[in-house]
Amino acid sequence: MKPRPGSVSVIGMGYVGLCTSAAFASKGIRTVGIDIDEKRIDLIQQGRAPLYEPQLDSMLKKAVTKKLLTATNDISHATDTSLTFLTVGTPSRKDGSIDLTNIERATEELGTALREKQSYHLVIVKSTVIPGTTNKTVNPILAKSSSKTIGTSVGLCANPEFLKEGTAISDTLHPDKIVIGANDKKSANTLKQLYRRFYGKNLPTVILTSPETAELVKYASNAFLATKVSFINTIANIAQSIPGVDVNQVAEAIGRDPRIGSLFLKAGPGYGGSCFHKDLQALINFSEDLSYSPILLRATEGTNEQQAEKVVELVEKLTGPLDQKRIAVLGLAFKKDTDDIREAASLRVITLLLKKGAQVIAYDPLAIPNARKQLGETVEFAKDEHSALKGADCCIVMTEWSQFEKLQTKDYLALMGTPNLVDARRLYNPNEYGALNFAAVGFGTQQQ
Ligand code: UDX
Repeated sequence: MKPRPGSVSVIGMGYVGLCTSAAFASKGIRTVGIDIDEKRIDLIQQGRAPLYEPQLDSMLKKAVTKKLLTATNDISHATDTSLTFLTVGTPSRKDGSIDLTNIERATEELGTALREKQSYHLVIVKSTVIPGTTNKTVNPILAKSSSKTIGTSVGLCANPEFLKEGTAISDTLHPDKIVIGANDKKSANTLKQLYRRFYGKNLPTVILTSPETAELVKYASNAFLATKVSFINTIANIAQSIPGVDVNQVAEAIGRDPRIGSLFLKAGPGYGGSCFHKDLQALINFSEDLSYSPILLRATEGTNEQQAEKVVELVEKLTGPLDQKRIAVLGLAFKKDTDDIREAASLRVITLLLKKGAQVIAYDPLAIPNARKQLGETVEFAKDEHSALKGADCCIVMTEWSQFEKLQTKDYLALMGTPNLVDARRLYNPNEYGALNFAAVGFGTQQQ
């Protein structure tokens, strides 16, 4: 293939890489998706998404049909493009620190492929990496493997993403900012130009920083959001011991103060997902390497871990000892509209329930196949929410799926053995569920 000026390659067809590639292609930018997983590449070539994300499937199909997106496991095709995004995974090691093996390998292979390239090529680190990775890890590996001078014939930037699962495509199309961390003007301007083509008149605010600042922005963003969730869960735990107090009203009132803001103040069973826990652990670990102990971040994580116990305490308040009790868990995904169960609060709650001798029957509209891989035979899986409730001693709503909102008092009364309901997601208006034994995170009921 001849080099195509202005075209883009993306190494790592995981969640971020795939959504980013589909979005570029949807704006007419030729994009090559690269991954070592052949099955994944096969699916993408057929225009099928290897993971669930609203809008992604149809976007991929269009992009592949129009030949704007191609997929390959041959990294040398990156050299046919002008810019390469690295979007490979950066998992945690056992001690919580970040594992950069994928980044190192992809950089080295890309550098080797770039050896023979005559024209300028920009490499962009989009994976979440601890401050210093772009300059201290990627830069020397790229320079050595490509035999080129970084900053002149090969450019380098850090450019974090802020996509949420379930809204990743619209987050990519309408971000609140773009952060570009670069050491030299050419790298920064080349990437800015690509985004100008992508967003046209709607180019969001572009914040130009050093690579280290850009890398820290991503961690600061996730750490702050996770801290907001742990903060409101702390208030919820206080609120639920005070009859007549509702944390949702507290959140609504404090959220009106622009210094606080209304988002990420929904009390619940604790945060999950692929980013918050992993990134907080990496940031804590990184801070410690700098001889700083980040007490606040530890408390955010500790509060989140403890929140599962708070949910189980609510169950025990209604049912008494859990031994031999049949507990229906509605929702396994870490939030609605995804099949992702990574770090999901449901898993922490189920582990505690099983430890206390309960029988668990679980249902989720999308996440059962993933949950089955992790939980195996330890829990029963139901075919729908109604069968999960049959004969149960208590039901816990763990994920805020819209279909669970439709369950009314009469459904719980008709199906359950004993109508005990714990609303861990604040899906229901407590006033409408008075005929049940009802408890909810952050809702202070009258002492019985
Ligand atoms: C997050 C960040 O939002 C995103 O910017 C980053 O790039 C990746 O990590 P995601 O993991 O998809 O995105 O989920 P998000 O919507 O942020 O929710 C994370 C967790 O917090 C979920 O378990 C959610 O249920 C929980 N949460 C969120 C609350 O419990 N209360 C809230 O008010 C908000």
